[in-house]
Amino acid sequence: MEFSSSLLGSFLLFWVFSVAHGQPLVPALCVFGDSVVDVGNNNHLYTIVKANFPPYGRDFVSHSPTGRFCNGKLATDFTAENLGFTTYPPAYLSPEAKGKTLLTGVNFASGASGYYDRTAQLYHAISLTQQLGYYKEYQTKVVKIVGKSKAISIFSGAVYIVSAGSSDFVQNYYINPLLYKAYTPDQFSDILIQSFSAFIQNLYRLGARKIGVTTLPPIGCLPAAITLFSSDSNQCVVKLNRDAVSFNNKLNTTSQALQNKLSGLNLVVFDIYQPLLDLITKPTDSGFFEARKACCGTGTLETSYLCNAKSVGTCSNATEYVFWDGFHPSEATNKILADDLLVQGISLLS
Ligand SMILES: *[C@@H]1O[C@H](CO)[C@@H](O)[C@H](O)[C@H]1NC(C)=O
Ligand SMILES: *[C@@H]1O[C@H](CO)[C@@H](O)[C@H](O)[C@H]1NC(C)=O
Repeated sequence: MEFSSSLLGSFLLFWVFSVAHGQPLVPALCVFGDSVVDVGNNNHLYTIVKANFPPYGRDFVSHSPTGRFCNGKLATDFTAENLGFTTYPPAYLSPEAKGKTLLTGVNFASGASGYYDRTAQLYHAISLTQQLGYYKEYQTKVVKIVGKSKAISIFSGAVYIVSAGSSDFVQNYYINPLLYKAYTPDQFSDILIQSFSAFIQNLYRLGARKIGVTTLPPIGCLPAAITLFSSDSNQCVVKLNRDAVSFNNKLNTTSQALQNKLSGLNLVVFDIYQPLLDLITKPTDSGFFEARKACCGTGTLETSYLCNAKSVGTCSNATEYVFWDGFHPSEATNKILADDLLVQGISLLS
């Protein structure tokens, strides 16, 4: 990698110094997206896409379910720690998201949401359009607490993470004849990218300047995707991974165009495709032993209500599993992804 190691070195020194002195590197962290980053917004909705019951959360700080689709922390939780925050941005719909807590950021993400608003509608989740609506409401609240000029500096100094697209493909496009008969994967990607582009421009107009967007993961390697779409029950679905790569290339090109067009915007594309694919193809290199089967239940399909306390076969220790349930990485994987994001996102912290 051509990356300047002296830049990384001086950044790490700065990081260790700031974080050791209890000073977060940025004023706030806000998160938008789907179940990979939902910390409990769906608990407050009438949806079948939920994770607020055991065994979800069994390895979390509180050892209890919170609505995170994971045994423990999400990548964005580790990111909050890496940025020096002592608390995680709370779910916007939760009772914790009030008063001064709002000042260090909140989480708007909703399981089964996506760039395509109808994906969220299908599951009664919070669409990205509505997440942005909540963000506007959030801004009004922050202005009331600290006044306009301080609020504006919080909004422009904050880091925003957008993580979506998986549900659009796996929980909508591939299983929805109204979509897959009407559009090729390439055309559907273009629709998602248009919505992504509009979302970023709206967020920019509202004052955001430091935005990180995650790529699609290798969706063909999600345990549930292998079970549903693969002819060989042990191989990643090549076509799905190809669609993800193609989407990611469009995401990258569009992000660079947005960055050139919108002055003062720092938009970083966080690649989670390759790091996750590396874990899946060479799990033992990183201390994992199981990448095909998830920990929960049979590990081949279960997520949300199908992954529950009565699921038969749930593993007793998820630390060596790449996936926690049929769709979602384990805490151990999230830690690795988040450390990678920190390196990829250094420019957001200047
Ligand atoms: C985006 O494109 C740039 C330049 O072509 C490349 O260096 C980078 O690796 C790409 N990033 C991702 C996440 O694909
Ligand atoms: C899980 O396994 C790891 C080592 O693989 C070990 O360090 C850890 O203590 C175990 N956790 C539990 C809850 O048994």
